[in-house]
Amino acid sequence: MSGTEQGTTTGRQGGDEKDVLHVWGGTPLRGTIHVRGAKNFVSKAMVAALLAPGVSELRNVPAIRDVHVVSDLLRLHGVEVDYEPREGVVRIDATNVSLADVADVHTLSGSSRIPILFSGPLLHRLGEAFIPSLGGDRIGGRPIDFHLATLKKLGAIVDSDGPDGTHITAPHGLHGAQIRLPYPSVGATEQTLLAAVEADGKTELTNAAVEPEIMALVDVLQKMGAIISVDVDRTIHIEGVRSLSGYRHTALPDRIETASWASAALATRGDIFVKGAQQHDMITYLNVFRKVGGRFEVRDDGIRFWHPGGDLHPVAIETNVHPGFMTDWQQPLVCALTQAKGLSIVHETVYENRFGFTDSLIRMGATIQLYKECLGSLPCRFKEKNFVHSAVIFGPTPLHGADIDVPDIRGGFSHVIAALAAEGESRVHGISLIDRGYERFHDKLEALGAHVEWPAAE
Ligand code: EPU
Repeated sequence: MSGTEQGTTTGRQGGDEKDVLHVWGGTPLRGTIHVRGAKNFVSKAMVAALLAPGVSELRNVPAIRDVHVVSDLLRLHGVEVDYEPREGVVRIDATNVSLADVADVHTLSGSSRIPILFSGPLLHRLGEAFIPSLGGDRIGGRPIDFHLATLKKLGAIVDSDGPDGTHITAPHGLHGAQIRLPYPSVGATEQTLLAAVEADGKTELTNAAVEPEIMALVDVLQKMGAIISVDVDRTIHIEGVRSLSGYRHTALPDRIETASWASAALATRGDIFVKGAQQHDMITYLNVFRKVGGRFEVRDDGIRFWHPGGDLHPVAIETNVHPGFMTDWQQPLVCALTQAKGLSIVHETVYENRFGFTDSLIRMGATIQLYKECLGSLPCRFKEKNFVHSAVIFGPTPLHGADIDVPDIRGGFSHVIAALAAEGESRVHGISLIDRGYERFHDKLEALGAHVEWPAAE
């Protein structure tokens, strides 16, 4: 059956015909690609620049949509942003900060989760903030209740919070507080850091997240003049300071993109050298990659990942906060596990709804069963809550081409590697969503020898 015929049976809903990646699968991905700064750090470091009058400079910045969204939001607040994509340098001059026009801010509604992190810096600089309604991927409810609770503890007043956005003020400034997160949320930890660094007094944040991208944000804030310490039990202490100054910093590499290409090498029986990748923050992924049967070689300038031939092995994994197995590594790996011999089990404990992407893999020939039960031993917020958050994958199953829709950035990557591993033609719709976090995605696929066409990129 051709990809087009398949499309007529999938019930997919139209869409922009130019925003489609055509894939002719069955060719192993081989070659070298370069991974630059981490999407989930770069955007936060750009927000941190807003805290200090003067110029900050961030290097190793990838040309991804999230960088443009944050640049636009900074500019709407009177900040000068100059981004040079080739050099990967962004210079931010936050000497002047002004309230943005609410109508202008609305134009960025739904484009990213980052705007909520503008709250602390704007409250310090202007005493008020308007945050557009947030975007982000279709992987669960993605509420902002922890963020707002944290800001309130620090003395902010949430005047309105609804579908049109959130208006927050701090007429008396922010002050230190004792805060315990109900769950070690990455965003709420960053929110606390960005809001407490210039608050009056000390803040103690317990049950914080300590992802490497958060620790890199701590590095940036320390360069700016902040006083922050992190205990081994994931408690963060922040001593508020009166003022901060600009920073110069080089972003750590994107460990999610690195793992995505590694899983692509496994799924397509390929061999990919990820230039710029670093071992340190990927130890948990590398252990799983090895158990599945993949080979890797850590070099000074990157990591080579390859499929050594023969059968891949099944694994049981549970996603978790750092240093656990990242939820963002899960989706591309699940695609590779469809090619492992035997039963693999994946228990997703971070998001309640991150297996929607498996529908398309099943249509392409994968055997995957989803469960509401916790198929693992980690404490999980979704236990007996009726959320489909465990998967059993049986392999190896040959995959065949299909028409598929990108549901979210990582699920979309998983779909693309399924299409690359599949026999025949696939059409992956809504491919530009992947640009949010994968720099020059189309060019990299071509560099790895993939047979792909993306009309919008040509
Ligand atoms: N949560 C709440 N209330 C909140 C905040 C979070 O219930 O106020 C819940 C979420 O619904 C989720 C869990 O807590 O179930 C974890 O969310 P977290 O706040 O840690 O995630 P985030 O900060 O919104 C970042 C990354 C995600 C990544 C997660 C977990 C960015 C821009 N996004 O999101 O990245 O999955 O941390 O590591 O940093 C991606 O890159 O594809 C991506 C989705």
